[in-house]
Amino acid sequence: MSGLFRKKSLALLLSDAASGEKGLKKTLGMWALIALGIGAIIGAGLFVRTAAASAEAAGSGVTLSFVVAAIGCAFAGLCYAEFAAMIPIAGSAYTYAYATMGEIVAWIIGWALIMEYALGAATVSIAWSEYLNNLMGGAIPYQWCHSPFEHINTVIGDSIAKFPAEFMKTAKEGVLYLTDAQVSGLGADLKGMVVSQSGIINAPALLILGALTLLLIKGTKESAFINGIIVFVKVAIVLVFIAIGWSFIKPENHTPYLIPQGTEGHEGFFKWGWGGVLGGAAIVFFAFIGFDAVSTAAQEAKNPKRDMPIGILGSLVVCTILYILFSHVLTGVANWKEFESAGKEASVAYAIKTYMVGYGWLEKSVTIAILAGFSSVILVMLMGQSRVFYSMSKDGLLPKPFSALHPKFQTPYKSNMILFVFVGLFAAFVPGSVAGDLTSFGTLFAFVLVCAGIWIMRVKNPEVERPFKTPLVPLVPILGILVCVGMIVALDLNTLMAAGIWMVLGFLVYFLYSKKNSKLNNE
Ligand code: ALA
Repeated sequence: MSGLFRKKSLALLLSDAASGEKGLKKTLGMWALIALGIGAIIGAGLFVRTAAASAEAAGSGVTLSFVVAAIGCAFAGLCYAEFAAMIPIAGSAYTYAYATMGEIVAWIIGWALIMEYALGAATVSIAWSEYLNNLMGGAIPYQWCHSPFEHINTVIGDSIAKFPAEFMKTAKEGVLYLTDAQVSGLGADLKGMVVSQSGIINAPALLILGALTLLLIKGTKESAFINGIIVFVKVAIVLVFIAIGWSFIKPENHTPYLIPQGTEGHEGFFKWGWGGVLGGAAIVFFAFIGFDAVSTAAQEAKNPKRDMPIGILGSLVVCTILYILFSHVLTGVANWKEFESAGKEASVAYAIKTYMVGYGWLEKSVTIAILAGFSSVILVMLMGQSRVFYSMSKDGLLPKPFSALHPKFQTPYKSNMILFVFVGLFAAFVPGSVAGDLTSFGTLFAFVLVCAGIWIMRVKNPEVERPFKTPLVPLVPILGILVCVGMIVALDLNTLMAAGIWMVLGFLVYFLYSKKNSKLNNE
């Protein structure tokens, strides 16, 4: 078949998957796949965005926001599970689109997945750098852990603890107050002076990306093993916080459960009551991103027909339960109003420090769990991206180095290295806020096409063996599409414009390189 909409036949796809000997090693079992999912899912979304969604939109009803976002993800998750068991190939949504909607759609989705995985890894590595600096008490000089586009005015004056809440707000807008120790180091005569600083490079972000890239090159099994340890640590600490925090819940913090109408600063549909629950769902959606990354490892699964659905849906279920309990405890220990100013980014540590007296050790452990959590998110995102590139390169749409395997480790090492340079440039030189929403866009876009693909495939190829079947087709895919399109529309205009520019760039690459080099084109 020629033209933009030529499709890769299912027989060809499955024979690609079967020629596993020369390809990626099959090393991942059921538990490794579930851990891979949890590794990619629990991260900044839970630890940072829960408090933000509660303060900005849903109040203590943020727990319901998690339920809404989980339902939205479940529709897409069920569709992913059918595809991943039916076509266990590394490329995930890209591959499914190639079989159902044709090359140009596959290209578009492959290009959008770069936004999800590569930019997702960059965003989280920037957050990692911030938390590392927190853990080290701000010891990393500003210019070495920020992009050149970030600036800060430092008022040499007094310790942060002595400033009232309104000053804390300005502190968030770029004025930093030094600690007592730092002030005494500078000398009293400098008090009151304002020092302006700009970032140069985000070195810790580069460091973590480099370390995880090396691990990925070493092997998928090794990466999965380290991921397993990290997942154990972060889940354990989330559980400990829930268990200990439960006895510190004050019922008055949950009353009223939803932000009452007319609360100051909460005008507009998405900022109070049930509207706020929906607004909160869009904010915490980020916390669910990653369960789909399990499907990019389909070619490395030992028994994909059985284990892919278990990995995708299992990790989604485990995380949803943890999220609901966690947000219930967090908004019960501290009041959502406090998250408007104090301790927004470090909300969990703030709640423990302020209300859970005697549990100082838990505060430090939570920060370590967050750092660990971020590392596994980055790891699985980098892995997912290199697997999507692997499939695109195998199909001729990207140059050969993207699918070259290491002679000994059998990992796509060249792709991992190129990816490190690309993601590293973002992490080192671009502010974190820019990349976060684009990650959501890329993900939602992929979800829409995967849902549509399931429906199309059921109509066009009803005879194909489906080890797992999405229930209630076409209702579930249609609901999935509606929820995801709704969330895309709710993204801000700048994000949509940046995504548009990225997609135009993608078309240029397609028409100048990929279309000509496509294997299907040359058959
Ligand atoms: N779900 C991932 C996180 O929360 C992307 O960091």
